Amino acid sequence: MSDTLRSVGEAMISLRGVTKAYRRGRDTVPVLKGVDLVVQRGEFVALMGPSGSGKTTLLNLMGGLDGPGAGELVVSGLHLERLSPAELSRWRAAHVGFVFQAYNLLESATAWRNVELPLLLTRLSARERARHVETALGLVGLQERARHRPLELSGGQQQRVAIARALVADAPLLLCDEPTGDLDRETGDQVLSLLQQLQREQGKTIVMVTHDPLAAAFADRTVRLDKGVIVSGAEPTAPATLRMAASRPVSAPRLAVGG
Ligand SMILES: Nc1ncnc2c1ncn2[C@@H]1O[C@H](COP(=O)(O)OP(=O)(O)OP(=O)(O)O)[C@@H](O)[C@H]1O
Ligand SMILES: [Mg+2]
Repeated sequence: MSDTLRSVGEAMISLRGVTKAYRRGRDTVPVLKGVDLVVQRGEFVALMGPSGSGKTTLLNLMGGLDGPGAGELVVSGLHLERLSPAELSRWRAAHVGFVFQAYNLLESATAWRNVELPLLLTRLSARERARHVETALGLVGLQERARHRPLELSGGQQQRVAIARALVADAPLLLCDEPTGDLDRETGDQVLSLLQQLQREQGKTIVMVTHDPLAAAFADRTVRLDKGVIVSGAEPTAPATLRMAASRPVSAPRLAVGG
């Protein structure tokens, strides 16, 4: 393991002075203007803010999909800003599950194949991959739908396939960008309850972007972003150990990490 891959620190996410700018023509547009944020392991955090405030940009940085302009970006004990692109993608495959608003499912592939996809980047055997896929589909309650393609599934079912795909590598961190944005209240609440269950029973750390205060109520804490800076909720409110003691015991099956 190289030095940059050695783990440091306690929090799941610790950002200090993180900036990000995009180039638009000849101009550079600052999007994140010095973000400080701590997310404890096992926390469920809602990230809110007006459209264009930088929520998706911030989520992508936390998941190593993009690099910051400046600042420290420590996730799962690693300084992401110091990793090479190859190290970053290897790290991402094992540590982060993404749930995108638009589901991003392959239409030509069955639910089963969609969920298996991230595992093709690992060294798991076909048999091991199958075991992971079955477990992930079981966690979202979709085993019987495994052979259906996305267009044969409802919006809520498609989002559950996307969540199963985010879970299949048993990554400790789930990053969700408006996971209920396209769903009706009842279906959305089912998805939110599922995320809450994954936090409580599997110890997942979850950061969820949402515009909906009712969705944010499923989280432990709301972080508010406005014009590229955090305006409230940057620090955890209670130590993770207190929340762990209050949460329900583990009952759902766990995926074994491999590959
Ligand atoms: N790849 C990019 N290139 C140039 N500008 C970008 C890029 N991605 C985002 N931006 C700009 O950065 C700003 C923040 O975008 P971001 O997608 O992070 O906002 P957001 O808070 O997620 O908004 P929404 O709630 O609408 O999804 C916007 O002004 C957007 O136009
Ligand atoms: Mg966005």
